[in-house]
Amino acid sequence: MGLSTGRSKIRTAVFISGTGSNLKSLIKFSKTNKSPISIEFVVSSNSKAKGLNFAKINNIKKKVLNFKNKNLSEKKLLSALKPNNIEMICLAGFMKILTGNFIKKFKGKILNIHPSLLPKYKGLNTHRRVLNNKEKYSGCTVHFVNAKLDSGKIILQKKVKISKNETEASLAKKILAEEHKLYPKAILKAFNL
Ligand code: GAR
Repeated sequence: MGLSTGRSKIRTAVFISGTGSNLKSLIKFSKTNKSPISIEFVVSSNSKAKGLNFAKINNIKKKVLNFKNKNLSEKKLLSALKPNNIEMICLAGFMKILTGNFIKKFKGKILNIHPSLLPKYKGLNTHRRVLNNKEKYSGCTVHFVNAKLDSGKIILQKKVKISKNETEASLAKKILAEEHKLYPKAILKAFNL
C-alpha cells in the first residue's frame, strides 16, 4: 500500500501528547525482526506527557514542542527531524493538528491511529459520542494522514462490541488494548508485509 522498505529499517518518529501506550507498543514492535520501521525520535506536544518516559528508557531522542505557534513549532520540528533522517511519522495519541504544509513534506508517510471506526466519529470525545448515540459497535482505525482531519485512506480497522453497561472509561480501555495490536499490523500492511 504505497510504502516500501529496502534492506534497512525506515527511520520513524512517533508523535505523542499523553500516556504513550501506543508508543510503548510501537517501540516493542519496532525491535522485532519483522518490523519495517525503527523508532529514532519521539515528539511530544506536552512536556508532562508520561509517554516521554518510554523515549527515555529506550534511549530514543525526543523533543517537546507546545504548538502554541504552530508554524514556528513545525519549523523547529522539521529542523529536528531532518538531521535525524526521519522518513516516516506515526501519530499515536498526538492531539494537535498538523498543517497541510507539514503533511506535504512527509507526503504519504504519516500514519495516525484514531479510536473510532472512521469515517464515523472523527475528532475528539469519540467514546462519549458513540455511547450517546447508542451504537452497538465502535473500534479503532489506522489511516494515512492527509490535510483533512481523520480523513486519509484507511489501512486497517478493528471492530469492538459495546457491552450493556459500557462507560466511556471501559470503552476507552477496551479499544486501547486493540489499538496496541492494530497499529503494528497496519504498519505491516502499509508496507505490503
Ligand atoms: C488513543 O486511544 C488514541 O487512539 C487516541 O488517544 C489515545 C492515546 O493513548 N488518539 C486520538 O484521539 C487522536 N485524535 P496513548 O497515549 O496511551 O497511546
